[in-house]
Amino acid sequence: MELEQQQQQQQDLQVSGLRSARTNPAYLVSNATSHLWVFSAIAELVDNAYDPDCAAAHLDIRHEVMRGIDVLSFTDDGRGMELNRLHNMLSFGYCDKVPVKGHKPIGHYGNGFKSGSMRIGKDAIVFTKTRLANNAVVKSVGLLSQTFLARIGADTIVLPICSWVNDQLAETYPDGAQSLSLITHHCDLFGGFESEVLAQFDRIGKHGTRILIYNLKRTSPDDPSSALELDLVSDRSDIVNSETLQSDAALPAVQRMQLLQTSVSPLIRRSLKAYLSILFMKPRLIIRINNHKVRTQLMQRCLAKRAIDYYSPKLSPSDETRLKLRSNSNYRVRVVIGVLPANHSDYGAMLYHNNRLILPYEKLVKEPELASGVALIAEVDHLEPNHIKQEFIRDANFRNCFLNLTQKLKEYLELHRCSDSAAASSAAAAPPPPSYWRWVQCDSCQKWRRLLDVSDEEFRSIEKRAWYCSMNPDAYYNRCDIAEEVEDEESMVQDY
Ligand SMILES: Nc1ncnc2c1ncn2[C@@H]1O[C@H](COP(=O)(O)OP(=O)(O)OP(=O)(O)O)[C@@H](O)[C@H]1O
Ligand SMILES: [Mg+2]
Ligand SMILES: [Zn+2]
Repeated sequence: MELEQQQQQQQDLQVSGLRSARTNPAYLVSNATSHLWVFSAIAELVDNAYDPDCAAAHLDIRHEVMRGIDVLSFTDDGRGMELNRLHNMLSFGYCDKVPVKGHKPIGHYGNGFKSGSMRIGKDAIVFTKTRLANNAVVKSVGLLSQTFLARIGADTIVLPICSWVNDQLAETYPDGAQSLSLITHHCDLFGGFESEVLAQFDRIGKHGTRILIYNLKRTSPDDPSSALELDLVSDRSDIVNSETLQSDAALPAVQRMQLLQTSVSPLIRRSLKAYLSILFMKPRLIIRINNHKVRTQLMQRCLAKRAIDYYSPKLSPSDETRLKLRSNSNYRVRVVIGVLPANHSDYGAMLYHNNRLILPYEKLVKEPELASGVALIAEVDHLEPNHIKQEFIRDANFRNCFLNLTQKLKEYLELHRCSDSAAASSAAAAPPPPSYWRWVQCDSCQKWRRLLDVSDEEFRSIEKRAWYCSMNPDAYYNRCDIAEEVEDEESMVQDY
């Protein structure tokens, strides 16, 4: 122990007085360009609310207008942060997320908030409220603002940030009063009134975080009179990406090509509601857009003619250690293949990592006439997502996995083509219409319940209203205290 202390002291001596790296404000822009589309930036903020360190149950995404300025707000009821954590959040590369009770974090790189928020708009202000073990309430606010940095001519990123413990401006941070004054005067949402800054904490419940992003990106970034990139008004239950071919044309050719090549389906590219409804393989976080609940979908459970298969990747010991899968030596990927309900216009593989969608509707089989209407859904935790979580690192594990999944999909399509054409040739044995299980999530306990014998029309009307376990006609699962139904793998295999 003494030796360790000595070594530490020696190290402190060696580095004390050295310069820290500075970060030019222009980096905020370049760092954000990795998000090729705006919903991937929004997803970063959703991930942060979902991750186990925050563990929010609800996230409200809203379009607000504050002093005539369009604001996109994200308010969660998670744990919130004390000042040092908020400082880390506004800095680069700090991430100490670990799995909690099987809830694996999506965040890994310590960059998502910065790249995401600065892709959505030029300025972000974060309000957060947390409770300490001694029950003290800590409120903190921090400003990450390109407008502010430009106004003061900063050549490195500086952060006005301050904190209150039980409503007393924390004296441990001598720059607290100065920061508050800078925030009040340089965040244009509050008209220079400190009371309006403080009022934002009232918008958070007992604990949680509220992020306001403003100076939202416009279709022509240099023209302040051009339309906002996001259409926030046409449909109040949704946020529409109004990205048009014209605005894509303004991108450099390489990025335009990348955009064209991404196999993202038009609907989830255009509609935030549609994208968020499938962002999590097993949705738990309740997301509202302007107070309209996003109806999440359990895609793997609404497939007809389902087949389940498993893929056991060969991993090197170092991969296994890195992925911490060793404790579960039987790691294998569960692959569900089936026919999508008619209202899903797309097809392909939905590849998730730690419950989060990375590749949507990836076309493993390129011929639409063969694969149309069929989805393959898998959680591939052994692969590594890229830093913006829209792609996997294309290494040997990825290639092997891709080949294997493609093979499984081809076998499925082949089998169904044969069985469908055999059935079609026999007039007497016309195949019955595929039946879909419908799953609906209880608005109180968040458990998923299977609905029997509901028509499309009935289901659509159920989806529009609040729904609780007590409304379930199935008496085995009509109370919130009853555990969720375990998926019956046998019956799924028989479906096949
Ligand atoms: N809504 C939130 N509630 C509580 N803590 C948050 C919230 N958003 C961000 N944080 C904290 O800020 C840190 C930085 O967030 P950021 O998204 O930049 O990186 P990350 O999630 O750690 O990693 P990644 O770059 O992969 O997203 C997080 O590690 C987390 O501690
Ligand atoms: Mg993150
Ligand atoms: Zn319930």
